[in-house]
Amino acid sequence: SILEMEVEQINKGKYEHYMQKEIHEQPESLTTTMRGRLIRGGSCKAKTVLLGGLKDHLKTIRRSRRIVFIGCGTSYNAALAARPILEELSGIPVTMEIASDLLDRQGPIYREDTAVLVSQSGETADTLNALEYALENGALCVGVASTKAYTSQIVVMAMLALAIGGDLISSQERREAVIDGLFDLPSKLKEVLKLDQEMKDLAKLLIAEQSLLVFGRGYNYATALEGALKVKEVALMHSEGILAGEMKHGPLALVDETLPIFVIATRDACFSKQQSVIQQLHARKGRLIVMCTKGDAASVCVGGSCRVIEVPQAEDCLQPVINIVPLQLLAYHLTVLRGHNVDQPRNLAKSVTTQ
Ligand code: G6P
Repeated sequence: SILEMEVEQINKGKYEHYMQKEIHEQPESLTTTMRGRLIRGGSCKAKTVLLGGLKDHLKTIRRSRRIVFIGCGTSYNAALAARPILEELSGIPVTMEIASDLLDRQGPIYREDTAVLVSQSGETADTLNALEYALENGALCVGVASTKAYTSQIVVMAMLALAIGGDLISSQERREAVIDGLFDLPSKLKEVLKLDQEMKDLAKLLIAEQSLLVFGRGYNYATALEGALKVKEVALMHSEGILAGEMKHGPLALVDETLPIFVIATRDACFSKQQSVIQQLHARKGRLIVMCTKGDAASVCVGGSCRVIEVPQAEDCLQPVINIVPLQLLAYHLTVLRGHNVDQPRNLAKSVTTQ
């Protein structure tokens, strides 16, 4: 009805679509996610994190032999993005499980495990069944606070890593850097959102493509998977997130002058490896779009032509929160330009409550 349409427009505010609105609201949703949980300054000038629901279990979690992240879709990708910092700060091995696959295999879960179930809706049948399964097997189970978006989930899990990591002297400097990095995220997100028009222009170039590969590694392997997932599910274009370290074991065969390849090459410990990936793609005349840290355009694009997208630098483990944004914007604009429904993608449910 006309009334419903008007209510819709009011909900969308100045935006044309809900997806667009949610992309642009991320600086605020991150601030909300951190409020009251991340503490800096005060009388003792301490930098610390407070996760109320978790504090009684921290000792048990720190004693566990393994932490198992369990989720589906975007929630799985968010957990994958947070795994490196959780391993680094806790010193506990972290393994990843797609909920349905854990159930299919009836994979081993032990009393000494801590299972972290990640879900935005809290309704996903596979995730709930996996929770039941982990509980039956005696694992300590914790859920990640239900938050709206991928970026907020990563932030929650980074705070989880800080909480579990405790206050070892050896990692104090790193912890403080991560906390400062978290506080800096909303303003950096605002900055990266300014790439909107640039991503729209890129979408125009890619509008008629059949496929898009996205290469990432390290902290940004998850960014590649999640970027490709968004392009697939909303723009209805085939896209694959590829672990760059696996390039020589298959994907290289696909490279030619026509297939667009998006390479994430922002500054972190993997940067020089990504530079060599870019060179190898150039050598095969790959059609490259490279995401790099501001000021790095010249060092990522040696020996060939490529389109460069420069993003602000964050603390390495938090860089995925920034890097996903241009890909979200790309998926959004591709969808609109290709004439598909952004807010109700074909064959997709907001929550999958059946197996
Ligand atoms: C569905 C949605 C995805 C979501 C996934 C997991 O497939 O379309 O966007 O990532 O379920 O949902 P959850 O609520 O458990 O995070």
